[in-house]
Amino acid sequence: MTTSPTVRPRRLRTTAAMREMVAQTRLDARQLILPAFVRDGISEPTPITSMPGQYQHTLDSIRALAHQCATAGIGGIDLFGVPRDEDKDASGSVAWDEDGILNRAVEAVRREVGDELVVMADTCLDEFTSHGHCGVLTEDGRVDNDATLPLYADMAVAQARAGAHVVSPSGMMDGQVRVIRQALDEAGFHEVAILAYSAKYASAFFGPFRDAVGCSLQGDRKTYQQDPANRREGVREALLDVEEGADMVMVKPAGYYLDVVADVAAVSPVPVAAYQVSGEYAMVEAAAANGWVERERVIRESVTGIVRAGADMVLTYFALDPALVGPVK
Ligand code: PBG
Repeated sequence: MTTSPTVRPRRLRTTAAMREMVAQTRLDARQLILPAFVRDGISEPTPITSMPGQYQHTLDSIRALAHQCATAGIGGIDLFGVPRDEDKDASGSVAWDEDGILNRAVEAVRREVGDELVVMADTCLDEFTSHGHCGVLTEDGRVDNDATLPLYADMAVAQARAGAHVVSPSGMMDGQVRVIRQALDEAGFHEVAILAYSAKYASAFFGPFRDAVGCSLQGDRKTYQQDPANRREGVREALLDVEEGADMVMVKPAGYYLDVVADVAAVSPVPVAAYQVSGEYAMVEAAAANGWVERERVIRESVTGIVRAGADMVLTYFALDPALVGPVK
């Protein structure tokens, strides 16, 4: 005898209209943030080979890009600076120079978009140091946590002065959020928010980014970025940052760390961002270019997964892609 089931979850999958009506996760352009690179000393935007479709921008082209972000209605733009090689030094001092490329870019972008788009700046030294580490080094070559903190504070204040709505410390030094909050407040920038890269893992998925910023790093960041094996620590880092004054916290990379995104989202009293990083982007583009995956569907699914896990905002190089900001497919 066969019995026909009365409980049929498939009823809610019968038509596209039904599926859309009951969809639990929806993407919204306003939750997307585009990371973008500005390079000093170039006259034309330069394509980044390992990130097809992404460029090192000039000051002019970054302004145009920011304008495009505002028009598309996405949430924000996160700016990274690429200085000239000869401007790099052991402490990364061009990072807090008001004439440094990142601060000039923040100013230009802010002038272009006003308050229509959230303007964020990456607050980390690795693009600016001759050795490529995210902090200054001790004599024996170790990354010196406490000597790095005041430099982050100076950098954050310079970014606020240039017009950043949000500074985003990504160097994983202990105590970085506290010193940055204190320095911003002392300089009168009470309204500038901190997006803390709280749970940032020592990830091989950052590979293409290092090309994008011409990073000089030899070695790795395993003494400051987290071990990919560790889940619990993601929550610990996020809660510490909240205690230190973070207005938003971030998990990075995103797609391979959805357990951490979910854990952080479950306990965070502040908005949670996740960063779909350069390697995640490059793999999709490479597979799609070979015809091995359907590009638009994979992009949508990857970002939907990140939001479903609990991210309120997603930093992604796909932020302006029609797959995300176009009509629902
Ligand atoms: C460090 C920084 C990195 C990324 C963002 N901020 C690289 C690193 O830690 O080595 C990676 C972003 C990406 O891969 O898209 N300032």
